[in-house]
Amino acid sequence: MIAIGSDHGGFALKQEIIKHFDENGTKYKDFGTYSEESCDYPVYGELVGKAVASGECELGIVICGTGIGISIAANKIKGVRAALCGDCYSAEYTRRHNNANVLALGGRVIGPGLALKIVDIFLNTEFEGGRHARRVDLISDIEAKNM
Ligand code: RB5
Repeated sequence: MIAIGSDHGGFALKQEIIKHFDENGTKYKDFGTYSEESCDYPVYGELVGKAVASGECELGIVICGTGIGISIAANKIKGVRAALCGDCYSAEYTRRHNNANVLALGGRVIGPGLALKIVDIFLNTEFEGGRHARRVDLISDIEAKNM
């Protein structure tokens, strides 16, 4: 199950991704927003972040205008590693090396064609573990000490 959420700046791209999921049979939970009406991105970053951190959803996708604000918000949830990606290489390596569990996208930055490729790569790439697990564990240590 994939958690997905956006503010108004990411709404149009969220709907494109949902259409893609419906066509592919990918299971998702849409945490809103549900219209173009202006709203606050931290609300949706928190909802998606909590769904992933709690284990309700395996991975998450958050979208705002730039992808920045909502990724900052999602990263305030302990256990969330949200990565803002605007290219396919970053999407692949943030899964392989960072074990990122939330993908952030800028709905006003990239078009739907690139965004869907990034989504597919993110959802279909596994964490490599090994030396990268030690580094991700160090991030968890920082959380344990400071959050
Ligand atoms: C909303 O206008 C915009 O600030 C928001 O979507 C996002 O880009 C914030 O980081």
